[in-house]
Amino acid sequence: MENRKVTFVIISFLLLSVVNGYADDRTSAGQLFQRHCAVCHGSTGKPDPNNPAFRQLGILPANFTDPLFNSREPSKDWFMVIKHGGAALGRSEIMPAFKDTLNDNEIWLLISYIKTLAGDHAYPAGDMNFILPIRTKKAFPEDEVVWKFRFQNNTGSTDRDQIRNVLELEKRFLKRFQFSVELSHTFDDAIDDNDGNLDQVEPGIKYVLYENPSYKFITSLGTFFAIKTEEHDDSDEFIPYIAAAKRLTDRLTFQGTARADLPFDKFSDGSVELSGVTHWSPSPWPRSLHPGLELVASFPIDRDDGGSNKKFAQFSLIPQAQIGLSKSGHIALNLGAEIPLNDTDRYDYRAYIYLLWDFADGGLFQGW
Ligand code: HEC
Repeated sequence: MENRKVTFVIISFLLLSVVNGYADDRTSAGQLFQRHCAVCHGSTGKPDPNNPAFRQLGILPANFTDPLFNSREPSKDWFMVIKHGGAALGRSEIMPAFKDTLNDNEIWLLISYIKTLAGDHAYPAGDMNFILPIRTKKAFPEDEVVWKFRFQNNTGSTDRDQIRNVLELEKRFLKRFQFSVELSHTFDDAIDDNDGNLDQVEPGIKYVLYENPSYKFITSLGTFFAIKTEEHDDSDEFIPYIAAAKRLTDRLTFQGTARADLPFDKFSDGSVELSGVTHWSPSPWPRSLHPGLELVASFPIDRDDGGSNKKFAQFSLIPQAQIGLSKSGHIALNLGAEIPLNDTDRYDYRAYIYLLWDFADGGLFQGW
């Protein structure tokens, strides 16, 4: 009997201490926030727009009660801003550096606390916003402009070099949607009169289906409509896809897409493409190099076409790297080269240059 009582007391005590420990973390994070941050960010996380100090300086500290803003920023970027100060990441120098006041643990506690200040909401967490791959589609909705350049070198049977320029605008709307439109223009060696063609307009839409921040996983459904312009006999295409992304470790991410390219004229002339990419971020600074390796496999839907075995699938490999140009990485460059692994007379190689501007994160000339 006595034993049971003792066990009960011990268990209750243990449970209480766990609950208390949790409460301690929250109150201490709350206290840290009130002590170090509330003067500027406001005691509830909403800065006072009438504060004359900020009016004079022309900058308002971040409003953590705004769920779109609060959710979109990755915690690791906030960690760098809090530790090293606004200026180190191309933001206002009024945001002080806390590296001498707070230890890393306290900064992480503060970040989890700040993330709760927007209340419950359905916006996906920016922690699942990974690096833009060359071919794989991102699952996270973006506010971005991307210029994509591709050079295709052919010395084989077709001997047609090709240069393609694509301008893409992506814009978030509602909580989990993204609209996009791509304009693509191609110069082709095979066409004599060579001013090139604006050959395709591609509107698209994407919806975040499911995300799980504790498992660091996100998946989205999307579709494009490729509308061919003049001088093309090709059919317009319907391009549905599913994209998923997962953080593997602090430094490694994985993103994958399954998509179908379906000509409206005849779906069976289309293909299904699977692609996956792993990126590695050796440094926590956005202005640094993030190498990645991408594998693409394309399967024709109608396998009888030609009857040759090599038509089963076409594989290619795309080593690539993203280089953050601005201090906050909101302007970045992607470089990549695509090498066919089989069916090598398709092309010798393709070289890619992407330049991206995350316009929600700052103006073109901000943060250099
Ligand atoms: C002296 C005023 C001041 C204090 C104190 C201050 N901040 Fe800030 N903070 C700012 C300003 C101003 C900005 C806006 C910077 C910008 O957008 O250029 C900012 C931005 C931020 C951001 C970046 C948000 C983004 O744009 O991604 C975070 C995170 C942040 N503060 C957290 C904190 C935390 C945590 C504390 C307390 C430990 C704190 N701040 C204390 C003024 C302050």
